[in-house]
Amino acid sequence: MSVGRRVGRVLSLLGVGLMTVTGAALAAQAEAPYRMPPASQALFEDLHNKIVHFPLVMTLLATLFLWWGRRRPEFEPVSFWMVWATAASTLAAYFSGQAQARDYVEGPKAWLVELHGQQGIVIGIGQALWVLSLLRDNTRRFSWVLGVILSVMVLAAGFLGGLVAHGK
Ligand code: HEM
Repeated sequence: MSVGRRVGRVLSLLGVGLMTVTGAALAAQAEAPYRMPPASQALFEDLHNKIVHFPLVMTLLATLFLWWGRRRPEFEPVSFWMVWATAASTLAAYFSGQAQARDYVEGPKAWLVELHGQQGIVIGIGQALWVLSLLRDNTRRFSWVLGVILSVMVLAAGFLGGLVAHGK
């Protein structure tokens, strides 16, 4: 075998070795264990993703209390304050959602974020009416119906929100 060929073979072996070592180092880096960020960052980063649990769960719970409250008046004060708190959490979801929507303005999911944001607005208006419905005797007995409608809407918003965040 000529000297040139031998040098070529040695060089290609060295190349393969180098690639293997680099690959192993990269894999080790990719598999490094997750490190907790500082609490202030972990708590307040992507706030919408955390807040949305409140309107979702509380709308369902408040509706359940309104349903029970039809025959058990002792539940009325509980459902009254739950509906207020739910509406407040929806407001927080709205503003935190608007803040996170900026990340999607130019991307392929811009239309989905817009649709999801509109869901949030309709739900916000619906929840304001929900609160008002509790203030008068003649509308209070229908508040649970509004709750059922809002529960469906909030679940639908959660579904689209999930697609915004995780849809592939
Ligand atoms: C009642 C109102 C709303 C509910 C129940 C809701 C629910 C959700 C849910 C469940 C997610 C997925 C979160 C995750 O998987 O971690 C999400 C994501 C998202 N929502 Fe909402 N949302 C609401 C209002 C809004 C509004 C008004 C906007 C404004 C445009 C918005 C913008 C977003 C954005 C940008 C994401 C993706 C967040 C990310 O990058 O991970 N949402 N939403």
